[in-house]
Amino acid sequence: MPISLGPTQGSVREVLEAHGDDASGYYQALRALGGERRLFFDPDMQAWVVTGHALCARLLASSALSKSRLRLDTPAVRERLGDLALSAQEIVGRQMSFDESESAGRSHHRWQRILTIDGRSAFRRALADMAAATFATFDAAAPDFYRMALRPYVSRAVAARLSLREAERAALYPLIYGYADFLDGKATTGSAAGAAASLALLGDYVGAHFDRLRGCDGQPIDDRERWIADYALTLVAGHESTAFALGTALGMLGDPAMRPGRASDLRAHLLEALRFDSPIQLIGRVARDDLDLGAGGRIRAGERVFLHVGAANRDPDRFATPDRFDPRRRGGGLLAFGLGASRCVGMNLALVEAEVFLAAALRFLGERRLCVHASSFEHGLAGRSFGGLALSL
Ligand code: HEM
Repeated sequence: MPISLGPTQGSVREVLEAHGDDASGYYQALRALGGERRLFFDPDMQAWVVTGHALCARLLASSALSKSRLRLDTPAVRERLGDLALSAQEIVGRQMSFDESESAGRSHHRWQRILTIDGRSAFRRALADMAAATFATFDAAAPDFYRMALRPYVSRAVAARLSLREAERAALYPLIYGYADFLDGKATTGSAAGAAASLALLGDYVGAHFDRLRGCDGQPIDDRERWIADYALTLVAGHESTAFALGTALGMLGDPAMRPGRASDLRAHLLEALRFDSPIQLIGRVARDDLDLGAGGRIRAGERVFLHVGAANRDPDRFATPDRFDPRRRGGGLLAFGLGASRCVGMNLALVEAEVFLAAALRFLGERRLCVHASSFEHGLAGRSFGGLALSL
């Protein structure tokens, strides 16, 4: 039994269920759970949850925690899926996040290179065309800008970067979201079976088209199976996160007088949206050794730890008036992409995609007022998302 740092008052799941549609209530309740220590034990996840910025940053930058494994191999999944479940489990076992060998480090750098966009590259121009096309066909009466415009833009951008053709992307779309829901912590035990099936089929597809898809890099590949696993993860990981960030940033562009004027202001606006409501909320790890947190607090070797970067990005000790959206904030400290050696490999791509899109949105809006209304949310334990987004001018 882990040593408790105080009475357990609840879990992240309960907070999400109680305040899912109200971001301020949700973050305030998380802060209350973390208390003075910015840390609590979550009985539902059987894990420590760190809500404080300083402790999250310290732990992310240290080697005190190793990456935890996702579990897709519940008895229910195995019973329903048989071989598919085994194949999904093998893919998860090879994905870059779950292996800290030297070859995993090389793989991480390789994907980082693939996903880094040169400022004046043809790819950036292609993104600008995709963004412009979204607004050229903008229909204010359309019911859901999130599913009809934001998700497809982000999905096309990632697919183009990974040499996936449009017809392939469209065919794989349900599989991508089948697995994304699991990664975002929306899947229940039952739907973990769907996630396992999606991942196994995605892996099969990438394996069957390996010779062409590896063109996104062109470098020799020494471990084919690992590359396939990483490709499937990369394809999925860049979808909902970026679309949610774009939805949040767009929602803050309503008043023409408050809109960013210069490129640096646009970047600040985007970073503040990522802080204000972080697309990825939880980063899971396992303690390598006993961790002394001071004043008798201790996490034991082998215990699971979730770094709640969503809550940490609203920590009042790091960000004054954390519940206020303030694009004039400067000084860094954003944990939305993680930190240190294992920071998100797609960070640069996500920022470029989002900036190009927001710039197109600003051109389209001109001096018109914009009203963005979230009709519903589909937040998970680990990832935030909109159920639907309506835009009106
Ligand atoms: C606003 C958008 C995004 C946010 C907020 C975000 C955030 C994160 C976070 C917090 C992690 C965990 C880092 C860790 O374990 O320390 C992560 C991992 C990852 N992200 Fe992103 N991400 C975004 C966009 C993207 C994009 C566009 C891609 C690729 C196309 C991508 C690919 C990945 C992959 C493959 C991992 C796992 C890497 C590993 O475990 O080493 N992400 N991301």
